[in-house]
Amino acid sequence: MIRSKIAGIGHYVPEKVITNHDLERLMETSDEWIQERTGIQERRFGNRAEETTTTMGARAAEKAIEHADIDKNDIDFIVFATLSPDYFFPGCGVLVQRELDIASTEIGALDVRNQCSGFVYGLSVADQFIRSGMYKNILLIGAEMHSMGLDMTTRGRDVSVIFGDGAAAVILQPTEDSDQGVLSTHLHADGRHAEELAFISPGSHGGRYGEKEKYGFPDNEFESVFITRKMIDDGLIYPNMNGKYVFKYAVQKFPAAVMEALTTNGYKPSDLDLLIPHQANLRISQFVQRTLRLEDHQVFNNIQKYGNTTAASIPLALSEAVDSGKVKRGDLICLAAFGSGFTWGSALLKW
Ligand code: UT7
Repeated sequence: MIRSKIAGIGHYVPEKVITNHDLERLMETSDEWIQERTGIQERRFGNRAEETTTTMGARAAEKAIEHADIDKNDIDFIVFATLSPDYFFPGCGVLVQRELDIASTEIGALDVRNQCSGFVYGLSVADQFIRSGMYKNILLIGAEMHSMGLDMTTRGRDVSVIFGDGAAAVILQPTEDSDQGVLSTHLHADGRHAEELAFISPGSHGGRYGEKEKYGFPDNEFESVFITRKMIDDGLIYPNMNGKYVFKYAVQKFPAAVMEALTTNGYKPSDLDLLIPHQANLRISQFVQRTLRLEDHQVFNNIQKYGNTTAASIPLALSEAVDSGKVKRGDLICLAAFGSGFTWGSALLKW
């Protein structure tokens, strides 16, 4: 039976470190509040003159390609997960293909728009292509440049202190080894909560959800705009989050997603060598750990250093775990995600 394995992994984070104390200078917040509520000590912000989501993704991809010991021209498909693309369109998939100088291969490039669950969704898509025999070297990237779209004033503090920039990538290849690779993936969504964690404007909604005036959309139906002066003036061009509401669902759906992955494959929590939860909030990860009665060594967190890097967070944590020697061949690893949409899911794999 063919399944996919992670043949190479790598990550890239920008050099610029932004501490909680740096944020104290921009808004009414404190290192104490941020650490107590989220566990975050610092995050990285990209260099605006040189870096974008695509370039960070490309740097991570180069490391994954080297780790997999393949030539970049061997890649036969690209999947790029992000909520902070360089352009509204085209997506980062084609941009990273060009950045890696493999555009002349004309391989397909797919963008995944599933926010915090983007990597798990992307992994599931890539896994199906490998299992079907269609592709043999898929490049899957999760990357975010959040720092370009955060409200860095007190008004936006509940969101802006959480997010950071970064990228990570994997190369997926087929394997017939029964003791290695992706065992299963599980994807879920509930669109009834779409606006509870969302970046609504600019967008094509045109005030259709009864909020025409709030966003300042013109009455003339032929005057088409994605962005209005009112959106800018009223600070409506940033992500917003109903934090407590999201937290409540996250602590239910994360453990459920992990249990679904384990029971499908005949395992229990104590069998896990490593759980890599999406790094949304250290308190959420600790809650999940307690719910599943996992030991400290069974859960990997690095949100303290990078904040929430959304689509990059799971592969960034996995890549650091691999680099630190924490992951051994044959280890049972669960990746679990929850976020905007709401979307959530998990993947169980043997390293
Ligand atoms: O990755 C996608 C998934 N996202 C998540 O899973 C996020 C889930 N939610 C959370 O992580 C938490 O809800 C937050 C970290 C966002 C917020 O923590 P909280 O414990 O739920 O705080 P809160 O929003 O209830 O705010 C408590 C207080 C409020 O003040 P009052 O009304 O009690 O006077 C806020 O105005 O803290 C205030 N506050 C802040 N104070 C200092 C909010 N943000 C800040 C801040 N610094 N940055």
